[in-house]
Amino acid sequence: KTNKNGKPEKRETFSTSLAVFFATLGSAVGLGNIWKFPYMTGMNGGGAFILVYLFFVLLIGIPIMLSEFYLGRKTRSNVVGVFDKLKASRFWKLIGYFGLLSAMLIMFFYSTVAGWVYSYVFKALRGDFRSLSSMGLAEAKAAAEKAFETTAGGTYEPMVWQFVAVFVVAAILLGGVKKGIERVTKTLMPLLLTLIVICAVRALTLSGAGEGVAFLMKADFSKLSAASVLAAMGLAFFKLSLGMGTMVTYGSYFNKENNLIGTSFQVAISDTLVSLLAGLAVFPVVFTFNLAPEGGPGLLFATIPLVFSLLPLGNLLLVLFFLLTAIAATTAMISMVEVPVVIFMEELKVPRKKAVLLITGLMFVIGVLTTHPQSLFGGVTIAGKSLFDLFDYLSSNILMPLGGLLITLFVAYFVKKNELIREMTNNGHLKTAGLVTLLQFVLKFVTPLLLIIVFLNALGILKL
Ligand code: PHE
Repeated sequence: KTNKNGKPEKRETFSTSLAVFFATLGSAVGLGNIWKFPYMTGMNGGGAFILVYLFFVLLIGIPIMLSEFYLGRKTRSNVVGVFDKLKASRFWKLIGYFGLLSAMLIMFFYSTVAGWVYSYVFKALRGDFRSLSSMGLAEAKAAAEKAFETTAGGTYEPMVWQFVAVFVVAAILLGGVKKGIERVTKTLMPLLLTLIVICAVRALTLSGAGEGVAFLMKADFSKLSAASVLAAMGLAFFKLSLGMGTMVTYGSYFNKENNLIGTSFQVAISDTLVSLLAGLAVFPVVFTFNLAPEGGPGLLFATIPLVFSLLPLGNLLLVLFFLLTAIAATTAMISMVEVPVVIFMEELKVPRKKAVLLITGLMFVIGVLTTHPQSLFGGVTIAGKSLFDLFDYLSSNILMPLGGLLITLFVAYFVKKNELIREMTNNGHLKTAGLVTLLQFVLKFVTPLLLIIVFLNALGILKL
């Protein structure tokens, strides 16, 4: 391959280990930390659920993340091309096509929600929620719910904000790996981390702090049902952006000196800390005003504006909180969209600019048509699920675990042990060969088994 000047074309990489860390963490930290993790944890036995979650992060999350890093850095390729470079049978390219599909499906609904978040940053800045503090609690609650209804259900508003969200993603990805992904994540991730610490510290000084912390952390093993064990497993997938080639793609931008094992642990641990901080920033406030913790959109878009507005300087806190959520959503989205972009660039030889515009354009159009409640297909339901829920379900419960399973099997059974050791220890520079032996054992026997259990359960074949 050559560029215009006849020189061999060089694939971009991230510049430093810090850049690698922030980009990868940027992918992991997303909307999942803000509304999925804290609520699921609180409802499923707090500390008990956290333990189970960590168990899956260790035995499924980290092994798959490492497999993806391996495939990416080894081949310096997109998730479809990886298998050509390794001269594997065409069957394995399915991993790439599943990844392409998951990326699209997730983006359709994720960008919808990101649009709501962007609109809340704007509305909080404009002071829309200030009036809530002068109302009675019941009235304020109704007003907060009304505000969410218009944000998500209006005719043009949600569309315009979804466009803004997709547009921001496109603008970043047009800059490429170093000037786009690296520059943005290296600037915004430290800001996000600072903001979430500020929000958590503020919340922990409130009277409801004890109750909030207890809801999130107190281990109650009696609430830990079979269903919550499986939920923890699905969450680990979605949280760490696994099974769809995101980490293959980012791994293909790593440098030969980066410590893959170290990075995977740093990212998994930091991501979990962000999730916990999100819970600590929210639940103490909710309990201070004696409200019930809700899950999902209701928590983020109605309860939070309500309770934050009731605090002194609450509007400022609200702006900071939605800003950090917008950052989280954006850095996660760029990693999703980069997956199809590089497939188009390398497999179909489309220039980056065209690939980005084509894919984000498609995401916006299909996204609006399927997830906007008033659009042409907005009212369609399949098996009792709206398309919005169906995309979420198909990607998290079917495509990602299936992709994860195939990636695990490929690396476990088709990559020779010495080869795996060579790549994971950076040609013997790192003293981690023992860990790689352990990793290969887990990949061969533990991860696939656990995954098959989740998968059968998601399909309803196995009822645990
Ligand atoms: N990890 C992101 C979150 O928790 C979601 C995500 C999934 C990002 C898949 C990229 C790929 O919100």
